[in-house]
Amino acid sequence: MLLHVQNLTVQYDPHEPLVLQNISFSLEAKERVALIGANGAGKSTLLLTLIGVIKALEGSITLGGIPLNREGLRDLRRLAGMVFQDPDNQLFMPTVLDDIGFGLRNYGFDEKTIDERITAILAHLGIGHLKNRLSHKLSGGEKRLAALAGVLVMEPSLLLLDEPSAFLDPRSRRTLISILAGLPQAMLVATHDLELAQALCSRLILLKGGRVFAEGPAQELLQDHALLDQAGL
Ligand SMILES: Nc1ncnc2c1ncn2[C@@H]1O[C@H](COP(=O)(O)OP(=O)(O)OP(=O)(O)O)[C@@H](O)[C@H]1O
Ligand SMILES: [Mg+2]
Repeated sequence: MLLHVQNLTVQYDPHEPLVLQNISFSLEAKERVALIGANGAGKSTLLLTLIGVIKALEGSITLGGIPLNREGLRDLRRLAGMVFQDPDNQLFMPTVLDDIGFGLRNYGFDEKTIDERITAILAHLGIGHLKNRLSHKLSGGEKRLAALAGVLVMEPSLLLLDEPSAFLDPRSRRTLISILAGLPQAMLVATHDLELAQALCSRLILLKGGRVFAEGPAQELLQDHALLDQAGL
């Protein structure tokens, strides 16, 4: 088992209701799971908790056998890579090239390896022409692909993708889906794009009001219109 989440509970503000309640699920290596739910259901919160950006009130998270705690955090961040819902929260170096190379430099890779990996990932995503551009001047879709490149270049075991198809034009969206489908990594994909979920994911976790409302084979659940309706979709 790659990821194991047990009884996860999250609260942003002690005076407010719990944002996530008793979330439990597992992910096998290479498994692709969609995380579906209405606005505010807690999808982004869950993904951010899984990489330790948000601290859980209760519960446990284990990734690749490593428990998420202060000691395990650095190793865990290497195992899991997240593409944020808003790419402006992700890109922070001046140029695309610096941004994509940042994580690798941080982990002490040599410049030759860094250069090779960046060139390969840019070609794979079809964004080689963006490498010398200023990150903050890219379009929404270009930013999304640059952010994805920065995560993929680290070769994590688990990809946490928050609305990966947002901002993308139809062709870039199709390209993204086929790229993701060809990746060996396990993925947890938060999305409102049910077509993407269907095309990419074998399993689906449906959140409602911070709880797991349903979980099962994606094909089956996505056909259950009454269920999706009850979840506010
Ligand atoms: N930093 C924060 N501080 C306080 N409350 C927050 C914070 N971030 C999110 N929330 C609240 O937590 C709940 C879950 O938000 P979250 O962003 O996880 O939902 P989501 O399922 O990702 O929604 P969307 O589909 O709109 O992206 C919402 O009620 C939201 O208002
Ligand atoms: Mg969200």
